[in-house]
Amino acid sequence: MSSGEENDRSVKHVAIIMDGNGRWASHRNQPRAFGHRKGVDAVRTAVRAAGNLGVKYLTLFGFSTENWRRPSDEVDALFDLMKRFVDADLEKLHREGVNVRIAGRRQGLSDDLLAIIERAEQRTAENDKCFLTIAFNYGGRDELVRAARQLAQDVAVGKIDPDAVDEAAFSAYLDTKGMPDPDLVIRTSGEHRTSNFLIWQAAYAELVFLDVLWPDFSAEHLQQALNEYASRQRRFGGVDAA
Ligand code: IPE
Ligand code: IPE
Ligand code: MG
Repeated sequence: MSSGEENDRSVKHVAIIMDGNGRWASHRNQPRAFGHRKGVDAVRTAVRAAGNLGVKYLTLFGFSTENWRRPSDEVDALFDLMKRFVDADLEKLHREGVNVRIAGRRQGLSDDLLAIIERAEQRTAENDKCFLTIAFNYGGRDELVRAARQLAQDVAVGKIDPDAVDEAAFSAYLDTKGMPDPDLVIRTSGEHRTSNFLIWQAAYAELVFLDVLWPDFSAEHLQQALNEYASRQRRFGGVDAA
């Protein structure tokens, strides 16, 4: 995520549902974890490509609150990969000016993972060249419920007046606080659903579904999605300017 010329239509924020690791591995008669390991290489590809294409905010869906339904050895593999990725890539990301954040529920995560997350966020907190958010143990409904609970607590202690709660005030309780909404949400693997990802933030995002399985994701696929985005008319409920 280094250089950064402006892309065609100034896409500030791209969010990606990285799907298809399991199928990619099955097609090769390999265990699902093999696909997840390859998926980490595709994460690196996506981060680099986003930087080169001038995308300032990149948000990647790594583990959902529903993914706990998977066999425990697969869950363990995904947690292990998350830790290793942050450990291995943090300094490089920091040198490149990437601000790293992790969205999602922290409660219930192991102490070692929490320590890694906090180190990554603190280390890169002052960076503002690019913003990489990894949604991990993330669910849109869970995020909204956590936000509502915190808001209710703040109302109860008189920190905020209920009449002051508008969309902007509410957004400040979300994990994506301070970030622009995604302009474009990409899902790989050919599935046409959003699986509880950024349900508040992506209310007006353009959705692009790619048939590629995540481990095969390349810079060309990101370019293809940006081209598709550039051909869309965004109206936000209004009418075309022309
Ligand atoms: C990766 O792809 C998404 C994660 C939950 C990490 P999957 O593991 O969902 O792969 P498929 O959809 O089963 O092919
Ligand atoms: C969504 O993919 C979650 C992530 C990409 C991390 P899933 O593979 O879990 O979604 P479903 O189960 O097909 O909806
Ligand atoms: Mg999947």
